[in-house]
Amino acid sequence: MTFDVKRVRAAYPALSDGYAYLDGAAGTQVPTAVIEAIADAYRSGIGNVGGTFPASGRAGSIVAACRQALADLTGASPDGVILGPNMTTLTYRLAETLSRRWGPGDEVVVSRLDHDANVRPWVQAAARRGATVRWAEVDTSTTELPPAQYGDLLSERTRLVAVTAASNVVGTRPDVAAIAADAHAVGALVYVDGVHATPHVPVDVGALGADFYATSAYKWSGPHIGTVVGGPALLETLDPDKLAPAPPGVPGRFERGTAAFADLAGVTAAVEHLASLDPDPNSPDNPGIAAGGRRQRVLASMAAVEEYETQLFARLLGGLDAMEHVTSYGRAARRAPTAFFTVTGHSPRQVAEHLAVRRVNVWNGDNYAWELAGALGLRDSGGAVRAGLVHYNDDADVDRLLAAVGELA
Ligand SMILES: Cc1ncc(COP(=O)(O)O)c(C=O)c1O
Repeated sequence: MTFDVKRVRAAYPALSDGYAYLDGAAGTQVPTAVIEAIADAYRSGIGNVGGTFPASGRAGSIVAACRQALADLTGASPDGVILGPNMTTLTYRLAETLSRRWGPGDEVVVSRLDHDANVRPWVQAAARRGATVRWAEVDTSTTELPPAQYGDLLSERTRLVAVTAASNVVGTRPDVAAIAADAHAVGALVYVDGVHATPHVPVDVGALGADFYATSAYKWSGPHIGTVVGGPALLETLDPDKLAPAPPGVPGRFERGTAAFADLAGVTAAVEHLASLDPDPNSPDNPGIAAGGRRQRVLASMAAVEEYETQLFARLLGGLDAMEHVTSYGRAARRAPTAFFTVTGHSPRQVAEHLAVRRVNVWNGDNYAWELAGALGLRDSGGAVRAGLVHYNDDADVDRLLAAVGELA
């Protein structure tokens, strides 16, 4: 099976502007189908939910369809899909809710691999409750998050383990399932940051052992919407702050105010886009995928995406490694296709500026991987350059980046 990147790129109007979009880790472009789904929601007339008239019913249907789409993407139950503006906001909300049960003597475990959005909300909530924070460390020579250390970090006092499914800078994909199994063995909950992993690999929250799994649609071709999925039975035990007349049930009681209904229609279209990437469900090579529904198509497509991105990433890393003036961070055995590097004699900002002039979009800085930037000794020197691949990037994007970085020797 070959991944038809030309066909994929044609779905994204923004990619015709001549830039190499290697900034997907900070947000992807959106395909026409997503733009149309959002526009169609507005065109068709939408009211707020819960009313007696058809436009209100349409909003209700959009919300229900979005929960089902996110369930298909992650393997969760639609009844456990909490919708919100972004991962950070939802994680603060869950931290506020879960930490009500914590007190002095309780412990939470966070990691230095994580984006700060899966660190600071827990650290701050623990401080408010007098609970203790324990840190899982990154082996800076390999950029791995060794799961064995959790044996020492966990105890019957551990209430929560927060860990990422993939680093947003060095790409490391830790063994979340092993960490979660150890956490569950001591009765702790596991909160997984899936924001960087979701665009790159098939996701199965059950296999990961995630009690909560957070992801943001704008990282995988959708609009600026975040979600946290959790088991409905677990959510039933939690009591978030809510307005008196707001829905009392699950997952509605975790959602604040009026939702961005049109954007939610875009999220559903983005999941459908991912499901349609590859392989062709009508192909005789893939019997059963079409019959298995969208969940099966998502899993098959994301497996194809992972294979395609892995190959393209080898080209990118090989090119960077061949340049003596480039230092690459990120050495993990299992990783998302995200490069993090510095260039001798040029600050990360200068490199990003040089690349922008050559129509290559990359990020510079710590990208909110604040603890990791500190551990790698990069926090006070402007971080590093981040070039990340997603499924719409191609050889030409990578070659353009390599040629432009090569000019800085
Ligand atoms: C790994 C990771 N976690 C969390 C976040 C925060 O996500 P959001 O912007 O949806 O709050 C990001 C955003 O860059 C991220 O890359």
